[in-house]
Amino acid sequence: MSQGLEQRRIVTTAIPGPRSRELHARRTAEVAGAFGVTLPVFIEQADRGVLLDVDGNQLIDLASGIAVTNVGAAAPEVVSRVQQQVERFTHTCFMITEYDGFVDVAAALNRLTPGDHAKKTALFSTGAEAVENGVKIARAATGRHAVVVLDHAYHGRTLMTMSMTAKNLPYKEGFGPFAPEIYRVASPYPFRWPTGPENAAAEAMARLEEVVVTQIGAHNVAAIIIEPVQGEGGFIVPPDGYLPAVQEFATRHGIVFIADEIQSGFARTGAMFACDHEGVVPDMVLSAKALGGGLPLSAVTGRAELMDAVAPGGIGGTFAGNPVSCAAALGAIEVIERDDLAGKARRIEELAMPRLAGLAAASDAIGEARGRGAMLALEFVEPGGKQPNAGAAKRVAAACHAEGVLVLVCGTFGNVVRLLPPLVIEEELLDDALTVLEKAVRSL
Ligand SMILES: Cc1ncc(COP(=O)(O)O)c(C=O)c1O
Repeated sequence: MSQGLEQRRIVTTAIPGPRSRELHARRTAEVAGAFGVTLPVFIEQADRGVLLDVDGNQLIDLASGIAVTNVGAAAPEVVSRVQQQVERFTHTCFMITEYDGFVDVAAALNRLTPGDHAKKTALFSTGAEAVENGVKIARAATGRHAVVVLDHAYHGRTLMTMSMTAKNLPYKEGFGPFAPEIYRVASPYPFRWPTGPENAAAEAMARLEEVVVTQIGAHNVAAIIIEPVQGEGGFIVPPDGYLPAVQEFATRHGIVFIADEIQSGFARTGAMFACDHEGVVPDMVLSAKALGGGLPLSAVTGRAELMDAVAPGGIGGTFAGNPVSCAAALGAIEVIERDDLAGKARRIEELAMPRLAGLAAASDAIGEARGRGAMLALEFVEPGGKQPNAGAAKRVAAACHAEGVLVLVCGTFGNVVRLLPPLVIEEELLDDALTVLEKAVRSL
């Protein structure tokens, strides 16, 4: 097994350095320009909180490959299981012949997702595929067609999931026509709720009820799909009471309540799933990202009777639940449970949140510091109001990148700097990264 990286930030060249620039020029010639890049730096090795680039810089990773490497990018438990599995076999296609890794991951998800009712799981490869299949299963199980999603939602880039995603640029522009029967309702975004954050839960819920009951007809609605903490939309934490109210409403009307936990799941928010914070038990939970410990794996876990409503052969895919990805997932789940990574995420919040709140109090360019566990964010605004300030977020991110700290920008208005460290990040490293972020904000 390869040597781990020393857990400290090292900046030896400009970032990106000369070797990365060279490689990036080659990429530009060879790779479709439609792929964006946050930081054009080529990575040589990664371990826990550190990314080593080809110029010898060690960046602090506050991105986790977008909430994927919760256990780190080279966790020994993942690496060794993957190595053993590739030596046994790389693929059979679970729809052709079976293997135990698929069943083990399904059993783990049935056990770990909220609720102790009878559940079953279907595995796929990407998050978007999990969303697509969640919708297919909900439609087949209910015999209904309408799907309800929120403002600021992000569910993926395939036709159905892109149609469900709220933001036009860059996700939808030029890619229409979109899938039909998708209805959008207000997201209870406390910071931006017109009548104040204290009204967000009740008013957003009233609007949802109105759209479902009077515009669509509740008997036509197959599913309501919600990210329990909205991710790409800006790390929006719903106000207390909203998710339980949606759950109750959906149950009352025979609508499948689907929690898209693709970004918020697997200990990221300080609980195994973000729904757990309010004891919400969705009918279906979608997982991806951190589930596979860095390898592509996604899942739909739902009430057994819903999952069995689709005829055999109705869902699946050549690579669905690939055995190497399943082996990696079992390693990742082992680490998450054994090392209490949910507790680690809460500790990250405890260390980082007061400093983010301090920045918000001291800078009139920050409208709000928010988040849950290790899913934390700063929303940038024009001084004196709430007008989104994407320029400030961009400048802060660029200043962090130049100092060797990888942060990401998100938000419908592109004005949110988000922090998604691996949950295994060492406290000293996190402290250093936050100091860099503080300096970047102060120099705005
Ligand atoms: C909440 C949510 N749903 C779905 C997706 C789509 O996942 P993937 O990119 O693996 O298709 C994402 C990806 O960022 C996500 O954050």
